[in-house]
Amino acid sequence: MSVPKSEYLSNVWADGIFANRVLFITGGAGTIGSAQTRALVHLGADACIIGRSVEKTEAAAKEIAKVRNGARVLGIGGVDVRNFDALKAAADRCVKELGAIDYVIAGAAGNFVAPISGLSPNAFKTVIDIDTIGTFNTIKATIPHLVASAARNPNLNPSGLTGGRFIAVSATFHYTGMPLQAHVSAAKAAIDSLVGSLALEYGPFGVTANGIAPGAIAGTEGMERLASSRMSKADQDRGVPSGRWGTVRDIADATVFLLSDAASYVNGTTLVVDGAGWRRQGGL
Ligand code: HXC
Repeated sequence: MSVPKSEYLSNVWADGIFANRVLFITGGAGTIGSAQTRALVHLGADACIIGRSVEKTEAAAKEIAKVRNGARVLGIGGVDVRNFDALKAAADRCVKELGAIDYVIAGAAGNFVAPISGLSPNAFKTVIDIDTIGTFNTIKATIPHLVASAARNPNLNPSGLTGGRFIAVSATFHYTGMPLQAHVSAAKAAIDSLVGSLALEYGPFGVTANGIAPGAIAGTEGMERLASSRMSKADQDRGVPSGRWGTVRDIADATVFLLSDAASYVNGTTLVVDGAGWRRQGGL
């Protein structure tokens, strides 16, 4: 059954704002990544989604393509973001088959719930490798394409169309520290730092680089694991100042904003989408 639009996109965006644009997204078959991709494709983009599992990635691509007649969604499975060469080959294939890479989302992540005492050095390193090094690899594999896109589509160009935009999926844990998530917290802090450096180095080329830091998002693998280890959902809802958990649509809408012409001058920052949760209790 296809996913209703209201689950991944608000009604405030104009159809076609991403026409003739191509999204390259790691983790695009995941819960948040597929909502972000659906939203972009619905609004006119084509997309290339990257994942480790061939089956899951190809199935997600097929499903997402249904949101718009004529949408081209390429699923490239068997790619681990820890492997730079595989990512670069995927980026090159995306450009060859879909013509460009205008937007990049680094969404692939690894997570498990463990106290520091339960983290082996290799466990800690594994999450740094997937999240931080994986984000670096994604940047490195796609930045020439983003620079080319920005050159074709300068900010504030009269057509209103954008290009040369990067988004990293971050978190809020490192603002306060987070029990059972020392590994993820450290990895995401480094990702925020990378976003800043990318914005400084590539802003002059017309590329923007930002992060999105989701709070407690319902239905995600990471959150289900973490929440069940700590407290009930009712307690969680009460703990978020906005009174509820987030939805994948909240993250997809933030993504649409950052990739749209409305965010031409937003660069080098992380947009927190968490109902003010981290201010109360580190997001949980
Ligand atoms: C302690 C653990 C562990 C656990 C694995 N390890 N699970 N240590 N507690 N629960 C250790 C292993 O023992 C090993 O260390 C090391 O981590 C690597 O494990 P592998 O299984 O060999 O790694 P790999 O196959 O590469 O798998 C990576 C993974 C896995 C992160 C462990 O869970 C994965 O592939 N996850 C991808 C999907 C995922 O996690 N999605 C959720 C993302 S959500 P030793 O020392 O034994 O060799 C997210 C958002 C965060 O990131 C925010 C949430 C709100």
